[in-house]
Amino acid sequence: MGKTLRHQVVALWLDVAATKPPGLPPQVRTGAARRRAECMLDSAERGTARLLVGTEAEHLRAVCFLVPNTSPVMAHWCMLTAVMVHPSCQRRGLGRRLVSHALEWAQEMGYEAVYLIARADRWLEAFYASCGFREVGRSPGAIREHDHRIHDLVHLWCGLGIAQPTHDSGQ
Ligand SMILES: CC(C)(COP(=O)(O)OP(=O)(O)OC[C@H]1O[C@@H](n2cnc3c(N)ncnc32)[C@H](O)[C@@H]1OP(=O)(O)O)[C@@H](O)C(=O)NCCC(=O)NCCS
Repeated sequence: MGKTLRHQVVALWLDVAATKPPGLPPQVRTGAARRRAECMLDSAERGTARLLVGTEAEHLRAVCFLVPNTSPVMAHWCMLTAVMVHPSCQRRGLGRRLVSHALEWAQEMGYEAVYLIARADRWLEAFYASCGFREVGRSPGAIREHDHRIHDLVHLWCGLGIAQPTHDSGQ
């Protein structure tokens, strides 16, 4: 991965972090976002995550990562994480297109399903539902913001339409 792309991804990540709800106190938010961005980019460079970018007129506008499982018994599905559209470009359909490309890419790579976790938030849940995900579980109170607001964590799953193997009946 070139240095320019790395810088562009980190810059987009910081711009998104600056506009997100409180979550973390402002004085630690930027540092935390930068560390997570660098960590995900290192994974992409090592090949333990795959970076998908969305551009418009050669400007980076959107990113997300697909993360394969290391366990062989879960190798048939992967995780989608860090789905982000630059704040200046949100609500123009880029997010839905990005997720749709990520699902297509996962299917091309042979995955049978994609999993993601998201903060419980009605519009975010509606966004992922419109992309084909359904809720499969919820971790109550899993997110505690610095201002003491508490949110559930929603577990979302999108099957990719590949025939599922039948369960071993043990006979
Ligand atoms: C979540 C995110 C990627 C969506 O990207 P986007 O390009 O704005 O989304 P789209 O324009 O494709 O929106 C698709 C639909 O989602 C819903 N939606 C998206 N943003 C919304 C908002 N702020 N409020 C209410 N509904 C919203 C709408 O139903 C929208 O369809 P509509 O515009 O026709 O009504 C973007 O808001 C983002 O980067 N947020 C910050 C990072 C984040 O929270 N990522 C999720 C991590 S799990």
